[in-house]
Amino acid sequence: MLDTLIVEFDKGLRTVFASASSLRPHPDQDVAEAGLSDAERRHALGLMRVNHCGEVCAQALYQGQALTARDPATRDSLKQAAWEETEHLAWTERRIADLGGRKSVLNPVWYVGSLAMGVAAGALGDRWNLAFLEETEIQVAAHLDEHLQTLPADDAKSRAVVAQMRDDEARHAETAHNLGAAPMPAPVKTLMHLTSQLLKKSSYHI
Ligand SMILES: [Fe+2]
Ligand SMILES: [Fe+2]
Repeated sequence: MLDTLIVEFDKGLRTVFASASSLRPHPDQDVAEAGLSDAERRHALGLMRVNHCGEVCAQALYQGQALTARDPATRDSLKQAAWEETEHLAWTERRIADLGGRKSVLNPVWYVGSLAMGVAAGALGDRWNLAFLEETEIQVAAHLDEHLQTLPADDAKSRAVVAQMRDDEARHAETAHNLGAAPMPAPVKTLMHLTSQLLKKSSYHI
């Protein structure tokens, strides 16, 4: 148990403070940088900072899931999704750097909060753990769709990253669903939505 905690603590430190890496090519790697106005660049940067912060949370949620999952098959089935979240972290991090910005200073706070939520959901059992993952992925995919509406039209690089992430998140939701997620009660969905609005509003700016 102590070994597991040390490994997980190390993962947490790396999520928040180190650079992530990606096995798949970054979706924007062959896409040219557009000449954005300063306002467009700052808006794209704010959105990518939100996305990066969301991916920090995803790391924590999947970590919480892995810590608490009772069924080893469930844990294994979610490894691929968890790895793809690490890739999203790498993609958004690079995009933030390309746009000349920095990651949100709130990342450690959101990380700890998400880990606590992931562990709490896990304590209720695998079906609720999976329900929490599924609803998170559904909401993230929807919010990435919103970003595709509001990102500068010419910012094809950010768009390529967000579009691939949206497709991945939709698949992750399906995975959690197919593994036997419980139907999430509407008030919990609303609470999760409100929490994500808070994340968006805060990490867009800082
Ligand atoms: Fe993700
Ligand atoms: Fe995901």
